[in-house]
Amino acid sequence: MNEDRATPAQLLAIAEAVVAPAAAQVAELRAGAAREVSTKSTETDVVTAADRAVERQLVAELRRRRPTDAVFGEEYGAGGDPAGAGGSGVRWLLDPIDGTVNYLYGIPWYAVSIAAEVDGEVVAGVVRNAATGDQWSASAGHGAWREGRRLRGSTETRLGHALVATGFGYQPARRAYQAEVLARLLPQVRDVRRLGAAALDLCLAAEGTVDVFYERGLQPWDHAAGGLIAAEAGLTVAGLDGAPGDGEMFIAAPPALFGPLHDRLRELAAAAGP
Ligand code: IPD
Ligand code: CA
Repeated sequence: MNEDRATPAQLLAIAEAVVAPAAAQVAELRAGAAREVSTKSTETDVVTAADRAVERQLVAELRRRRPTDAVFGEEYGAGGDPAGAGGSGVRWLLDPIDGTVNYLYGIPWYAVSIAAEVDGEVVAGVVRNAATGDQWSASAGHGAWREGRRLRGSTETRLGHALVATGFGYQPARRAYQAEVLARLLPQVRDVRRLGAAALDLCLAAEGTVDVFYERGLQPWDHAAGGLIAAEAGLTVAGLDGAPGDGEMFIAAPPALFGPLHDRLRELAAAAGP
């Protein structure tokens, strides 16, 4: 046990210190680097030079401040990098640009997402919209916040009146299945939104701008910060059948809506398929 272990509030302060310059870098690089497009898993999974540059900068900043923490980012993973070898128990999860397709097209809905885990549990997270500067944050036990306003989620209690945010993976077969599930859910809810950045979707659910969020196939860096922000806003954040929210299924909903949404997704076999 490391006696100098950082508190959630201290880790959040570091996340907040590094997220603003990272978001500014994302915005600055957009005009040039966004054109240097290459692809990852499929032709629609764009990754830009900006993703990579921002992640490199974030890793360097975090390593400078906390040299013995592990760092795990979307573009480089642990990157063959010994940053995490020091055994502090802290691991940072980074998405330099969540909403890469929006970034590519200039739709102002993309974010830098930074979370800190201690012994595998997310205890601090910040998500900053790089186009607008809007920022959401949370640390374990201290609530979720947006610009000094405490977030408490939606007060809606009827699934039929719920505005549902969700997203799609990049693999064509998975997308097709997800679209089928959504087509069957749509008549039973108020409407759906596919805004293109899961981290921001989770922040909208945390503040009640949408009522619920679910998605299959998210990666840890997609949901780590936003999931904590939603949970600290009082939402139930979980997967199906008592499982934790993860790549199989990630649901964030106010307690009154979680059960109905969970049961509907289960009936629709939303976590099955490719
Ligand atoms: C994607 C976005 C999108 C979600 C995908 C993610 P990226 O992340 O969060 O909203 O539906 O599952 O992969 O590729 O923009 O970082
Ligand atoms: Ca990304």
